[in-house]
Amino acid sequence: MDKFVIKGPCKVRGQVLISGSKNSALPILASTLLFDETVTLENLPQVRDIDTMLNLLKSLGKIVQFSKNKKIVKISNSKRPKYFASYSIVKTMRAGILVLGPLVAKYQKSISSFPGGCILNGNSGRPIDLHLSTLKKLGMKYEIKNGYIHASSKGKLKGRSIKFPTISVGASQQLIISSVLATGKSLLSGLATEPEVKDLTNFLKKAGAKIKWVGKRTCRIIGVEKLKGIRYSVMGDRIETGTFCVAATLTKGRLLIKNFDPKLIQTELKILKKVGAKIKESKNQILIQGPKKIKNIKNIVTKEYEGFPTDLQPIFMVLLCKADGISTISEKIFKGRFMHVMELQRLGAKIFVKNAKALIYGDPNFGIGAEVMSSDLRASAALVLAGITSKGVTTISRIYHLERGYEQFEQKLRKIGVNIKRVSG
Ligand code: EPZ
Repeated sequence: MDKFVIKGPCKVRGQVLISGSKNSALPILASTLLFDETVTLENLPQVRDIDTMLNLLKSLGKIVQFSKNKKIVKISNSKRPKYFASYSIVKTMRAGILVLGPLVAKYQKSISSFPGGCILNGNSGRPIDLHLSTLKKLGMKYEIKNGYIHASSKGKLKGRSIKFPTISVGASQQLIISSVLATGKSLLSGLATEPEVKDLTNFLKKAGAKIKWVGKRTCRIIGVEKLKGIRYSVMGDRIETGTFCVAATLTKGRLLIKNFDPKLIQTELKILKKVGAKIKESKNQILIQGPKKIKNIKNIVTKEYEGFPTDLQPIFMVLLCKADGISTISEKIFKGRFMHVMELQRLGAKIFVKNAKALIYGDPNFGIGAEVMSSDLRASAALVLAGITSKGVTTISRIYHLERGYEQFEQKLRKIGVNIKRVSG
């Protein structure tokens, strides 16, 4: 298993190009199951979760063809669609559950494994009850046997008025995708409004779906017979953008971050300004300069969009380890998402967690290199940033977590001045 070895402290300088969003590409890819015609996607990030989703689509009978530079992918139908989403593929990725709805919507049947994904909630796991209960309202019947969801519907799914009891990004995407070919009208309310959900509705609309956002969290969908093959470019990755913004702020660095619309991360940029970063926003790019001294900040709370994203919680925690004073972060989405805390403590962080709230005793001299271990995707990125700011050598193991969602992370970091190398074993 590969490890990263980072010699710090390093200062980041230069330019970085943001990749396509993994969390936007995954539901868009799942929704290609609804199509008869070919879909061409641009700006897909080359990361492991995307490979997994493409393998899943192939196992369901789709034909996947890459352009020479691997930047464009065409997804078309083979003559033999399949309905079995196997454990061996779906176990590694939460978004595997997103094929369930489109399979039932298109073919009226599916046998899908329970999904895997990052462990973010300790023993509470990551339930799929909202996916199942809302699909049931559209007319899907299911039974759970041997770890598989055996689902079917009598004829097409039927449009309904459905209100989500709590907000879920994945279940919102699942239901939107599944309503597009349903008969009649659906009114879906209580939806997540993350930019990745909007990117999905933009994609489906371009393909002929009749979707209209009629309220902040409400969509009206009128079922159509079929979707037309289109070419679409996936949005930039806001979590990768946030990660590089923190890298600059943390290291007193200066970065020009390209290929991302700053309007989509206003909450994050506001916090970075509060801790002292100087930020210049322009069309599709952000210029960010880290401060001499990072100010502490109280009461960061993770929330649904447009609130502060849970995926950046571990990454901002590293920044606050280096702040001048005490900061707090409350985790409201995944209450157990604190696996990185123990590892940051190995580097000298003083963090105490109680009732899903972290109290961070910042120290401008934070960070002495140590051996640490990744526990999940975003925690891995947080440990890399901590290694970059720490004195001496930090070795990070289990970096396969990171490869699920950051395209060419080490290459991009090396280009902006980080002393990072990959070693095997
Ligand atoms: C998406 O996960 C993202 N994953 C996550 O990013 C992200 O952390 C999360 O949204 C929140 O923003 C992808 O887009 C592939 P949720 P998702 O359903 O859809 C509870 C990353 O690092 N819930 O919005 O799984 C759930 O337990 C990943 O890139 C139910 O109770 O998140 C959580 O507390 C990690 N029942 C809350 O809702 C359900 O059926 C929000 O989860 C579904 C969710």
